[in-house]
Amino acid sequence: MSEITGRRGTNMSLGTAPPKSEVDLFTDEALLEPYDLHRELREVGSVVHLRKHNVYAITRYETLREVSLNWEVFSSAQGVGLNDGFNEMTAGTLISSDPPDHRLMRKVLQRPLLPNRLQGIEPFLRQEGARIVDQLIARPTFDAATDLARHLPLTVVSKLVGLGNYGQDQMLDWAAAGFDALGPMNQRTAAALGKAQEMVEFAMTEARPGVIDPDGWAAALFDAAHNGELPADKCPFMIIDYAAPSLDTTILGTGSAVWLFAQHPDQWDLLREDPSLVRHAINEVLRCESPIQCFTRLLTRDHVLDGFSLPAGARVMLLYGSANRDERKYPRPHVFDITRKPSDHVAFGTGEHACAGMNLARLEIKTLLDLLIPRVSRFEVLSSERLVNNLLRGFSKLEVRVEVEGVR
Ligand code: HEM
Repeated sequence: MSEITGRRGTNMSLGTAPPKSEVDLFTDEALLEPYDLHRELREVGSVVHLRKHNVYAITRYETLREVSLNWEVFSSAQGVGLNDGFNEMTAGTLISSDPPDHRLMRKVLQRPLLPNRLQGIEPFLRQEGARIVDQLIARPTFDAATDLARHLPLTVVSKLVGLGNYGQDQMLDWAAAGFDALGPMNQRTAAALGKAQEMVEFAMTEARPGVIDPDGWAAALFDAAHNGELPADKCPFMIIDYAAPSLDTTILGTGSAVWLFAQHPDQWDLLREDPSLVRHAINEVLRCESPIQCFTRLLTRDHVLDGFSLPAGARVMLLYGSANRDERKYPRPHVFDITRKPSDHVAFGTGEHACAGMNLARLEIKTLLDLLIPRVSRFEVLSSERLVNNLLRGFSKLEVRVEVEGVR
């Protein structure tokens, strides 16, 4: 890559203007069926100017990695959404910040999410998972998108983050609205902004010491502030960082896993024959059906990317869903194949802002699959509805019947 370093106004002639497209990735139809449009955009170029929303889509895997690793040029500090209102509302949060601020917050926030700490909560998750799996597989049918997928993420937010039932009922609603509110200024985004604001107010005014569980992850943020590790005003937003990105993402990933295994019973058989493939299976689910389809960055300076000139101040959109199906990286990318072992997928992002909760998400999904593998021989989808959300992909409803081992 040839970077023209330096300030605005440097010679941009080394690059050419990126190709343009009239594709709108945020219509209901596009959100429900994005993959043909993604393929079309990947063919047009690794960087494509989407005129409708005036954003440069990063469509291919290698280019997306390069952008994600270069936070100095592709900044998160002016927000990672597609509209100014939400970007301003969330500026300075963990996800919407650059180093050094970002590293200060991340160091504290990720403590309970590190692998050695997660080992400690494994028995608790397994016990909770077993409770829900036992109940559900005894039923004639259940909703995998809600009954099965929500239990562990909600338990984590209420019992481990320590928010109790406080806000829990609304948390799911708020969290999904938080993702919608990151979209371009369409009707869906406008409708979500009010709810996203409610979530911010809850964190600012109600999720405070004395109300939240003193032993939870949220309270530990206030302790860190008290010890001088963080400015105290960062804590409310960091509580949102524990709650908002940890719900729908993992919930949708779990639902997509069940859906993919129902569509591909041979892959379920393979996993049952060799349960050690479970980690690869989870990665393959997230590669195929990335729960978060995109985030954005803002260019801090003029820059040439893959030979295309991009001006300072432009917004680029990291299309994770497209990069994960880039045929240059993954042969036959539309095929769900758990032996593919795509541990380098970008569903969790990569670089400075790579998902802080990826180990927790993997552990939650693995806990459920580990419990289902020995007992369920088939999933059959009876009815389903996909969520329509500006950033998220997955099912809002997935009614399934399961064939239980030894029960006819
Ligand atoms: C399958 C589930 C999940 C997916 C697909 C996912 C995806 C992502 C992605 C793509 C990013 C990158 C953001 C960027 O580059 O701007 C991210 C960041 C983040 N995620 Fe996740 N996530 C998941 C689960 C979780 C969980 C369980 C938590 C729990 C706390 C979490 C917390 C975070 C946080 C705090 C960040 C911001 C990290 C930073 O800015 O340094 N995520 N996630």
